[in-house]
Amino acid sequence: MAMTDIHASKILVLDFGSQYTQLIARRVREAGVYCEIRDYAIGEAEVREFAPQGVIFSGGPESAGIEAAPNPPEHIYALGVPILGICYGLQIMAERFGGRVEAADKSEFGFARVAIESPCRLLRGIGDQIGEHGEDGIGPDGKARLDVWMSHGDKVVSAPAGFTVAASTESAPIAALADDDRGLYGLQFHPEVTHTPSGQRIIERFVHEICGCQSLWTPANIIGDAIASVREKVGADQVLLGLSGGVDSAVVAALLHRAIGAQLWCVFVDNGLLRLNEGDEVMATFAANMGIQVIRADAGERFLERLRGVAEPEAKRRAIGNTFIEVFEQEAARLADVRWLAQGTIYPDVIESADARTGKARVIKSHHNVGGLPETMRLELLEPLRELFKDEVRKLGLELGLPRKMVYRHPFPGPGLGVRVIGEVRKEYCDILRLADAIFIEELRRAGVYDRVSQAFAVFLPVKSVGVVGDARRYAWVIGLRAVETVDFMTARWARLDVELLEAVSNRIMNEIPDVSRVTYDVSSKPPATIEWE
Ligand code: XMP
Repeated sequence: MAMTDIHASKILVLDFGSQYTQLIARRVREAGVYCEIRDYAIGEAEVREFAPQGVIFSGGPESAGIEAAPNPPEHIYALGVPILGICYGLQIMAERFGGRVEAADKSEFGFARVAIESPCRLLRGIGDQIGEHGEDGIGPDGKARLDVWMSHGDKVVSAPAGFTVAASTESAPIAALADDDRGLYGLQFHPEVTHTPSGQRIIERFVHEICGCQSLWTPANIIGDAIASVREKVGADQVLLGLSGGVDSAVVAALLHRAIGAQLWCVFVDNGLLRLNEGDEVMATFAANMGIQVIRADAGERFLERLRGVAEPEAKRRAIGNTFIEVFEQEAARLADVRWLAQGTIYPDVIESADARTGKARVIKSHHNVGGLPETMRLELLEPLRELFKDEVRKLGLELGLPRKMVYRHPFPGPGLGVRVIGEVRKEYCDILRLADAIFIEELRRAGVYDRVSQAFAVFLPVKSVGVVGDARRYAWVIGLRAVETVDFMTARWARLDVELLEAVSNRIMNEIPDVSRVTYDVSSKPPATIEWE
């Protein structure tokens, strides 16, 4: 059977700096179409090589009217493929074709209702039905309505020649522009956010009907493609993979196992800073159930040794990171003839490093990731998830047969409990923390809220606080509970957990762990706090 070329249909997303750019790309992928994000100033040769069937301009923080406003190069318009401009993307397109953009007297942020003013291929029929949530539908004036999410300061005040005004809102009479003949469209609102209930349909309309892209980007096809390209690259060579228990390395393991079977060797470093039973679970999933060759290095004592007397957070991270590399290299050295090192690099990592190269300071995160490449090993890199977003990696994991619980697990920092035991890390503290954390997570799952929060965990505070047990006073440790809701982990809101749930967790922790006399819940958002306590 011929392999499906999953990159045969593709869309180019040009980035003008919107916080939603990645979301646009994810929505296009959800529509089954491959796309990549590139800087708006992309060169002509690069575009020709990529050969998109359509282009989307993201939003951006600039004002279209100003002299230095970022504009796409002319060769983009000369490509002759359909273009969809979103927010700022609409405004620069309007200006380019002779329309006018002005600063709005009033910025519009949040929900808005747009009225469909004239039919166009992009929006035709989309607002006609009452959606699942009661949104959209026909208004009293007979015009279709769409509930949308707006976030803009400027607006288009006169439409360029050849375009029709496709939609309006009260404060933005030109909320959508369309030129069906040239395939040019612009939306003042954001179809990519979930607050625009029909947004996904609009994106699908654009990529499928207007650009003519096929739905080839599906988990099964992605796996087939990855397997073929890994086999071709690796041949009969041996591949080494560091398994951490996290989603990305788990999916790489499952994928490589399917592609190259016994040529894959995994090293799993148990640093003694893992969650309750985590080491055994990793071994059960990969070695026992899937038959993957996993070398487990029980290095807990070595890590604790290196952490003795170290209380400063950065020093702890360094100690953990260095010890990891040491242990990993030592284990890997036992394997003869390994030529490749597989890594769970995913698309957002690729975008972040490209942004770092072009000097864009959007990403402030610079976590020291335990699991950094041992430089001395001189292995070639194999990164089969490089093109994928996290949600795609998860879908792949399920398709590859990984347990749902593992695939949808909250993120866990590389240095593990090392950043959740405040101050010096001791085994006794880790053991207490592991139990408290397991109780918290178990109760969250039982209450059905685990998947509704983005990350939840317990923190060990090395202070003793008084309690009473029976008639006696007891001085014991304090446990902090943290649960947050976030999309990107750059900002986060503390989760409004049910008080009954918190009470159940706190009672269980204090009753079941004699060394804990007090439980607190963290009500700090990020910023100014961070998610981890360090
Ligand atoms: P902060 O504490 O900076 O955390 O708000 C943001 C997210 O990053 C995770 N985190 C890490 N992940 N290696 C990782 O792989 C690390 O060293 C690390 N430190 C923090 C943290 O759990 C949260 O999800």
